[in-house]
Amino acid sequence: MGLRDRFQAGLARQLGHPSGLRGRFVGSALNRRNREAVVKAVAALELSGGESALDIGFGGGLGLSLLLRKARTVHGVEISTTMLDRARTTFHREIGEGRLVLGEGPMAALPLEDGSVDAIVSTNTVYFVDDLDAAFAEIARVLAPAGRFVLGVGDPDLMGRARMLTENGFRIRPVPVLEAALSAAGLSPLRHEKFAHSGLGFHLLVTRK
Ligand SMILES: C[S@@+](CC[C@H](N)C(=O)[O-])C[C@H]1O[C@@H](n2cnc3c(N)ncnc32)[C@H](O)[C@@H]1O
Repeated sequence: MGLRDRFQAGLARQLGHPSGLRGRFVGSALNRRNREAVVKAVAALELSGGESALDIGFGGGLGLSLLLRKARTVHGVEISTTMLDRARTTFHREIGEGRLVLGEGPMAALPLEDGSVDAIVSTNTVYFVDDLDAAFAEIARVLAPAGRFVLGVGDPDLMGRARMLTENGFRIRPVPVLEAALSAAGLSPLRHEKFAHSGLGFHLLVTRK
């Protein structure tokens, strides 16, 4: 494997599971690069101030800070201990106040009670999830009745042309496949928003339990 391929494989690994010092840099880069997508995904939840919200796979934590402005209580779940540590430092005050609760775990086994959150957002994460049905069923489990879930993904057609992604294990699924899996989990479609983002397209699938 050449130097370029090794660099790309390492970067892809870090995007799926940021770790160590490099992971900390990846967290900052994610916040910058994905800003528009995360801002729009959080806005699509249409939170009223008194609700509870969850960001799954929050990476650099931009989604957490946006949710903290709009929700009463915020939960963040991650598989990366580096991203969890970073968030513990960044949001030290909010955690102390009990407004932010962080948990470690995958999308398919969320450390939350049944029906305990009103709104869930997850952007740029399902590329790293093998069993989508189990993950979406878990999201439906922790959502309160009539709760909303917003899933954000890069445009699959454009992502599918990026060798760095396809050759390094990214699961790039067509939007209809994602929509079918959401429906099968009992998450009904409300809207599908599409916009240009970082020279690529981005999709928000807005659903309700
Ligand atoms: C590409 S980053 C996206 C971060 C952020 N949501 C954004 O859009 O900028 C993917 C994040 O999802 C996390 N992740 C990957 N697989 C996950 C899973 N199965 N459950 C929860 N988080 C996961 C990774 O640790 C990483 O922080």
